[in-house]
Amino acid sequence: MDLSKRIDRAMMKAIARAQGGGDVAPGRLAAALNYAVTPGGARIRPTICMSVALACGDDRPALSDRAATALELIHCASLVHDDLPAFDNADFRRGKPTVHMAFSEPLAVLTGDSLIIAAFDVLADVEDADALRALKLTRLLAHHTGMPHGICAGQGWESEAKVDLGAYHRSKTAALFVAATQMGALAAGHEPEQWEELGARIGEAFQVADDLRDALYDEAALGKPAGQDAIHQRPSAVEEYGVQGAIKHLRDILSGAIASIPSCPGEAQLAQLVRLYAERMTPVAPVRV
Ligand code: IPE
Ligand code: IPE
Ligand code: MG
Ligand code: MG
Repeated sequence: MDLSKRIDRAMMKAIARAQGGGDVAPGRLAAALNYAVTPGGARIRPTICMSVALACGDDRPALSDRAATALELIHCASLVHDDLPAFDNADFRRGKPTVHMAFSEPLAVLTGDSLIIAAFDVLADVEDADALRALKLTRLLAHHTGMPHGICAGQGWESEAKVDLGAYHRSKTAALFVAATQMGALAAGHEPEQWEELGARIGEAFQVADDLRDALYDEAALGKPAGQDAIHQRPSAVEEYGVQGAIKHLRDILSGAIASIPSCPGEAQLAQLVRLYAERMTPVAPVRV
């Protein structure tokens, strides 16, 4: 089965479970859960997670499905909370009204909360034979989601007077990419430590590319509001290095990513995937300057 189908199927299973699977449950919140994850965005984190699992032999496919799903649920939750008026106050996401616009602020808070809890539930609901790996996956996901190293810390930097751009990007964005490579390896029984650098490099490149798109593209091209970093005076790679400097920085990071792939059975295919992402990430023809 192709990866995107595998991810969508696993995501839908997790959402159906969170919605109650026929049990009495609040219908608007149940609908909001589905709204927050469908149609998905690029699903880049679960794709990387499963690709690494496959490169490592994918000996427990049900577990790599769970790892990838948990990661994407956390990502979707982070976007729902990030769009709230208390954070970026964004009206559009993935080309449609954000969850708080479509459902209400209380339901958006609860949607994010429920998706985070569903993510950990997905990891906990495993066969006995997978329990040890699942426990390690849970700890990895918690590490990359919460304080002090995860996306909560990343969002927390936005409330500091002085921001370390590297630490901000590492925790806000790169953390979930490190989680993607490490969880993929761990789900397939490989040591996660050696997969950190690849995830960190892809994640940093991704954030620099996102900053560039935010500065250069318009809302129609992005499917979400543009120019947000400047409006919210957020630290960004464009603010720090300028547009050309940020593009150079992006290329430098990606050139090291491929070299950092640990040796594994599917090394060559994985390198090919990273090359493809590198091409896709580099912004082309700005439509707004
Ligand atoms: C957006 O992530 C948030 C950032 C960390 C910059 P994505 O661009 O991966 O969002 P979707 O899931 O594809 O919509
Ligand atoms: C969102 O970052 C990252 C997290 C939710 C952790 P941004 O605010 O920079 O991303 P967009 O532009 O809303 O997707
Ligand atoms: Mg934000
Ligand atoms: Mg935002």
